[in-house]
Amino acid sequence: MPTILAIESSCDDTSAAICRDGKILSNVVSAQVIHEKYGGVVPELASRAHEQLIVPVVASALEKAAVNKTELDAIAFTLGPGLLGSLLVGVSFGKAMALGLGLPIITVHHMKAHVLAHLIDDPKPSFPFLCLTVSGGHTQIVLVEAPLKMKVLGHTIDDAAGEAFDKTAKMFGLPYPGGPQLDKLAREGNPKAFAFAKPKVPGLNYSFSGLKTSVLYFIQKQQKENPNFIKENLNDLCASVQETIVAVLMKNLELAAKQTGIKQLAIAGGVSANSELRKQFQKRGEQLGWETYIPQFQYCTDNAGMIAITAYHQYLAKDFAHQGVSPKARFAM
Ligand code: KG4
Ligand code: ZN
Repeated sequence: MPTILAIESSCDDTSAAICRDGKILSNVVSAQVIHEKYGGVVPELASRAHEQLIVPVVASALEKAAVNKTELDAIAFTLGPGLLGSLLVGVSFGKAMALGLGLPIITVHHMKAHVLAHLIDDPKPSFPFLCLTVSGGHTQIVLVEAPLKMKVLGHTIDDAAGEAFDKTAKMFGLPYPGGPQLDKLAREGNPKAFAFAKPKVPGLNYSFSGLKTSVLYFIQKQQKENPNFIKENLNDLCASVQETIVAVLMKNLELAAKQTGIKQLAIAGGVSANSELRKQFQKRGEQLGWETYIPQFQYCTDNAGMIAITAYHQYLAKDFAHQGVSPKARFAM
């Protein structure tokens, strides 16, 4: 019955969770507000904020779980991928705590953890399942054969879906992070108001950089005729961009399901919090006879709960690391 403390610090959320025997007892996330005024994550400010937040966040996770640090069996942390300075805080803190308490360490791959967030709550998908993992830095279709056996079937060749949301939202003057704001405004808009380019990429891969450019050229042209174009059409612009991104994501996911014959499908990562993606995923799932799985909101965006559940499976597989590990900004699955 292992009790594990897990730490996530790969980007701009400082998070800690406690997992006992595969159950998440606490999941504390402190989102760093400092980046809002810069319109995006400033790496150096992110690492400084992690440094300030890590001690109270870990203390709060232990307190909420009513677990004393002496009851821990292992310390887990995200090794990568992510921002190097951000990762370094969680890695150094985790290693120091493990050394101090004489505990083994477990290093976790951030993107695998987004997928394994599906093993936290019931109902859980059975293996094999397909997972569309969509975040601010990644867009992947993953074949999950077992908790620790995954294969990437398709990925973005340029921008991630979350980036496409955030960058277009920024063009519309929305505050960072733009994805959730754009989602909110899109609810009041017409998704068919404007048509944007849907990129064609071979196989199961994705591309979102063309969409960003097509939105930019479109609004620049419209603003020449009407300087208030964005303001007057904001909801429709948001709804149309969202509809395009979701349609692109769903197309390849459907293709992957068809090619593999797998009918257990999941979505994960920050963008899986998007209301339209959740709606379309469920709708197409019903039409195509899939069993669909969507994580709770708290396990969609970055959180240590997903790191903890992944670490639990690594613990069972005796997959421990040594004190010499260092963060990996790039980290293949
Ligand atoms: O997984 P995540 O928290 O961090 C990374 O690992 O990148 O994902 C963050 C991304 C951001 O791009 C954010 O705008 C996007 O997820 N996001 C959303 C929504 N909520 C978060 N995008 C669209 N609609 C949302 N509701
Ligand atoms: Zn993430």
